[in-house]
Amino acid sequence: MPYAHITGWGMSVPESVLTNDDISKIVDTNDAWIRERTGIRERRIARDNQFPSTLAVEASTKALKVANLKPTDIDLIICSTSTPEYLFPATACIVQDQLGATKAGAFDLLAACTGFIYAINMAAQSIQSGSIKNALVIGTETLSRFVDWSDRSTCILFGDGAGAFVLQASEQPGGVLSAVMHSDGSGGDLLTLQAGGSKYPASDETLRTGMHYIRMDGREVFRFATRVMAQATREVLEDAKLTIDDIAWVIPHQANLRIIEAAARGLKLPMERFIVNLERYGNTSTASIPLATVEAVEKGQLKAGDKIVFVGFGAGLTWGALAAEWTGPMETEPIVYPQRYRLLGRLRSLINRLIRFVEGIIWGRGA
Ligand code: UT7
Repeated sequence: MPYAHITGWGMSVPESVLTNDDISKIVDTNDAWIRERTGIRERRIARDNQFPSTLAVEASTKALKVANLKPTDIDLIICSTSTPEYLFPATACIVQDQLGATKAGAFDLLAACTGFIYAINMAAQSIQSGSIKNALVIGTETLSRFVDWSDRSTCILFGDGAGAFVLQASEQPGGVLSAVMHSDGSGGDLLTLQAGGSKYPASDETLRTGMHYIRMDGREVFRFATRVMAQATREVLEDAKLTIDDIAWVIPHQANLRIIEAAARGLKLPMERFIVNLERYGNTSTASIPLATVEAVEKGQLKAGDKIVFVGFGAGLTWGALAAEWTGPMETEPIVYPQRYRLLGRLRSLINRLIRFVEGIIWGRGA
């Protein structure tokens, strides 16, 4: 059975920074409250012309470059997002087209903030079963588009960004070691974005009542999160036949520093063993774990051979954890990774559209 190694990584965040002081000019809050209750100082906000796909393509291009793969080497793209570009087509297909990943299947996965863990697990299982060799796993969000900027209990939390991993098959032991995925739909009403789906299609009424915004029972989500983080970490370690002492880093979903501190207490681990960067990005949902991972690699904290646990929770309710041995890029002949792959991808997409347009005219005339 092949192993599924994480061999490439990349991230992208919008340039625009929104600080706690900036938010205190919009709603009745202040920097001290936000820092004390959440640990967040600032977050990134997408420009009007930046979408989940824009950030995802940037992060994925970097991840492919680190993994030394061409877009056409990718067999499968899983895009985990809570804020997809549309209900359909899938954001993964937009990314597939823009990258020029012509041999890849592509789909979106919705498991809210736990989505990136679910997605790595799905990609790893496809690799381990032998059905594919190379996968691109993305977490991408523009949550700022769904935030009610008059609700101080939610608008302080969320930010925009994207992260991507490349997973590759290898006979060398390592990579993804075990994973656990959980859900409890009875808590679905604790964190919702209701309008725009089939039950509440967009209407004057949904707009008037703000049903197209994120709504959350913060205290209940907090209680749930503090309960499941340590529990899922212990479970995934047991599955991987590891102990907490084997783990170099826990990389948690970055929602609230107090939730991460509770997990640390539950696991009897010092906070120094947790990767935390939420003070600069806030809660970026599915992007938070890859953003924290990429920064840890770039700072030299996370190194090849380190055993790590990703752990997260979110709307659904969902929660889960994944244990892995960090690999780093595989040793392959370096390919020159020019910008031209993306340009070629765009050109091919344009030609496909043009052909469809011309065919439409011909068929239209024939009818
Ligand atoms: O990815 C998963 C997504 N969600 C989460 O992880 C969220 C989990 N929950 C949380 O992080 C926390 O519950 C919050 C940060 C959302 C809220 O913190 P809290 O310590 O649970 O505050 P609270 O809701 O218990 O509210 C305490 C007080 C309230 O005032 P009263 O009723 O005691 O007078 C709130 O009205 O703080 C007030 N408050 C604020 N005050 C200043 C709520 N939001 C703010 C604010 N600034 N932004």
